[in-house]
Amino acid sequence: MCGIVGYIGNKNVAEVLINGLRRLEYRGYDSVGIAVLNSKLIVQKQKGKVSELNAVLNYDEFESCNIGIGHTRWATHGEPNDINAHPHTDCNGQIALVHNGIIENYAALKKILLQHNHIIKSETDTEVLVHLIEYYHQTMPLVDAVQKTLTKVEGTYGIVVISKKEPDKLVAARNGSPLIIGVGDNEMIVASDASAIVEHTRNVIYVSDGEIIEITRNNVKTYDLAKHNIEKLTDTIDWDIADIEKQGFAHFMLKEIFEQPETIQNAFRGRILLEEGKTRLDGLRLTEDELNAIRRIIFIACGTSWHAGLIGEYLIEEYARIPVEVEYASEFRYRSPILEKGDLVIVISQSGETADTLAALREAKARGVKVLGITNVVGSTIARESDGGVYIHAGPEIGVASTKAFTSQITVLILLTFYLARRRYMTADAGREFLQELIQAPQLVKKILDKNDEIKEIAKLYHTHRNFLYLGRGIQFPVALEGALKLKEISYIHAEGYPAAEMKHGPIALIDENMPVVFIAVRDEVYQKVISNMQEVKARKGNIVAIATEGDEDIKKYANHVFYVPATRKIVSPLLTVIPLQLLAYHIAVLRGCNVDQPRNLAKSVTVE
Ligand code: G6P
Repeated sequence: MCGIVGYIGNKNVAEVLINGLRRLEYRGYDSVGIAVLNSKLIVQKQKGKVSELNAVLNYDEFESCNIGIGHTRWATHGEPNDINAHPHTDCNGQIALVHNGIIENYAALKKILLQHNHIIKSETDTEVLVHLIEYYHQTMPLVDAVQKTLTKVEGTYGIVVISKKEPDKLVAARNGSPLIIGVGDNEMIVASDASAIVEHTRNVIYVSDGEIIEITRNNVKTYDLAKHNIEKLTDTIDWDIADIEKQGFAHFMLKEIFEQPETIQNAFRGRILLEEGKTRLDGLRLTEDELNAIRRIIFIACGTSWHAGLIGEYLIEEYARIPVEVEYASEFRYRSPILEKGDLVIVISQSGETADTLAALREAKARGVKVLGITNVVGSTIARESDGGVYIHAGPEIGVASTKAFTSQITVLILLTFYLARRRYMTADAGREFLQELIQAPQLVKKILDKNDEIKEIAKLYHTHRNFLYLGRGIQFPVALEGALKLKEISYIHAEGYPAAEMKHGPIALIDENMPVVFIAVRDEVYQKVISNMQEVKARKGNIVAIATEGDEDIKKYANHVFYVPATRKIVSPLLTVIPLQLLAYHIAVLRGCNVDQPRNLAKSVTVE
């Protein structure tokens, strides 16, 4: 979490930093700050959002400054206030540093620094870094001082440092927190992700863990932690600024919900061999022998990506008949997981940077199994460290609550299901039939989005409620979980997702006339069972919102409100049923006056464990 940015070049540095921080604000928005150099080091930082700092900045003051760093914070150590805001500076106000990550041994380092009369101003774990650099920088160049400092540090970091003594360079380093360098024409920009870079250049260098980078306006030198030179290649980003603009939508989340017909298509484009009823996923890089040897698949993920993994479990077990387990990354890594020959681990992560998911990937690799990654962000750490994988090609997702990435992940999991099923039990005819359904899905999603106003009306009736229950069975159970997560993330209403039948073992006690219950009740093999559960809720005066299949008039007998989705086969149904739930959460949050794209306490990319 936290977004960091550094710039050196001819543009007004404050403008570049503030624009960069705006793009990175989805990573945290507890406080914000910049530090720039001209004849002196100027630091301006405060609690609150980028817009609040922007409102008080005097840009003229920075006209002659060509180098600086910036930070937007998601607080871990120390409450969000002005003093704890980054950048942090040394005792003499000569060096400034921004940090994303956690310095685990900061307390021990702080003790030593205090003994050496350093004045530590904040409660953060970060500040010790800048004081250690100060200590070493007395006798050595900045890059060496940073290198020395990092040999004393335990934890994770992405850092950028500037020093008055060497006003022509930025020094950056990475261990566990993402960092990318944009290589421009006589300018360089370093940032936590490409969204802050792309308006300046599309040529980038991905920084890897254990690397220190010395950046001048026309040169980048990379070293390892022992200060050996490393050669790096430049990559090109394949999307542009329009992809990270709101394009007329009130919020990024709404824009991303409405992009789904296109993003679902992008996830399967070029990967369907319709004639053969098969899919191709070249990036998996698995041999036929390796594919045949799979005995168990373990999905590992967090948040919404974990819900996608649950849908993958239903799909792969039913159609490819391979046992599947779905693990929370944070749990997987801290027990002693049993991984055996024949196991295949697949990590799912939109950002490709989630700390727990990355650690789980490394844990699985260390135990000798192949690890594949399903990610969105090209060049992300998880994408680079996996043995193979699939990009979901959803484009940048800015809204903190994940929407289009979820449906793209499901699409890829459907493709993976065919990939495996057709090698095992599924016939070419069945494959063809199912794939036809997937190809239709974007159009059907569009039809649902066209009825956005119907959902808005339902939202108007329920936005003041304090609790919600979401119920589904089978493959719709993870969809219920995702619907509940969306609502609590952005509207702060308590919401629980439950398997519809399991409701009788607890949540039913909560049901009365004040409890809205959202049922996913499409016509599938468990439909009648869901209807029974609906009656149980109705008998207790719960308010029922049903997501039902077009043409199902019967359901009106039980539900207070019905939202219809087109009939499809089960395999693609979650792609449709989740759309009204995303819209419901969105409209309720807007009606409650919540900050939809930047919900409190959350961050898009959780790079601390
Ligand atoms: C955070 C985000 C969620 C996301 C989860 C996992 O909690 O707010 O939207 O689902 O992290 O992120 P990942 O990038 O690994 O999918």
